[in-house]
Amino acid sequence: MPRIFAHRGLSAIAPENTLAALGGCSDYRVSWFETDVDIIADGTPIIIHDSSLHRTTNRTGSIYDLTVEQLDDIDAGSWFSPEFAGEPLPTLAQLIQVMNESKLNGNIEIKSNEQGAERTFQLIDAVIAELDKLDDERKVLISSFNLLLLAELKRRAPHYRTAALFTADALGHDWLSLMQLCGAETIHIEDRNLTQPMVALAQKAGFEVNVYTVNSRARANQLFNWGADGIITDYAHEMIHLENR
Ligand code: G3P
Ligand code: MG
Repeated sequence: MPRIFAHRGLSAIAPENTLAALGGCSDYRVSWFETDVDIIADGTPIIIHDSSLHRTTNRTGSIYDLTVEQLDDIDAGSWFSPEFAGEPLPTLAQLIQVMNESKLNGNIEIKSNEQGAERTFQLIDAVIAELDKLDDERKVLISSFNLLLLAELKRRAPHYRTAALFTADALGHDWLSLMQLCGAETIHIEDRNLTQPMVALAQKAGFEVNVYTVNSRARANQLFNWGADGIITDYAHEMIHLENR
C-alpha cells in the first residue's frame, strides 16, 4: 500500500511543523507525517525546519540560542494566518505526546545540526530518548540528509528504521555505497528529475523509496504507477485516498 506523508504536517492548510499542522493529520485520516527536529541551547529537541526563527515565527535570531522557557513567548502561527496566532513552537516531547494521543506515525527528519559533532551527538541521543517514549504501536522512520549522523544514530539505536535523504543534485553514481554505508533501509529522493529506472534500481537493491515533495496529484499517481512506496506532500489531506488506489 502506498504511503502518504504529510510534509511538515498539513503544511498547505496550517503553519508548518506546529502541533496544529501535525496533530491535525488525524482529522483527515492521515496517519503519517514528516517533521524536522533540531536542538536548542539547553539541549531540548524542538520541531522546526530552519536554524533561524524569522521565516516561521514572530522572532528573529538563531534557534541555537533558545532555551525551553523562551518557547512560550514565540508565535509560530501568525506568519501563516491570523487564525493560527499564538500557535507554539513545539518541542519533540510535546509531539511525542500528540503522536501517542492521536495515534500518529512519524517520519522524524533530524536536521544536519550546524554546531558541530558534540551537539550532533546530543541531538541524536535526545531524539532517541524521546522516541523511546512512544507507545509500542506507533511507527517511526528517522531520516536525515546528514548520512554520518544517520550512521551514528543506527549505531546507537539499531532498532529504529532509517531513511537517507538525497536532493536531486546529491543523487550521484555512489548512491548505493552511501546507502549501504549509512545502513538506511529506505531512500528519500527529491522528486525533481526522478525517473522510473532510478526507482526500480533502488527497490531492486532492497530499499523502500519515498519521494519528496510531491504536490501534484498527477505526479503522485505516476510515481505510484512506477511502484514508489510513498510520497511526502504538503497536501496529504487531499492525497490520502491514494493510499487505497
Ligand atoms: O524529508 C523530506 C523533506 O522534508 C526534506 O527536505 O528541506 O523539506 O526538510 P526539507
Ligand atoms: Mg523535512
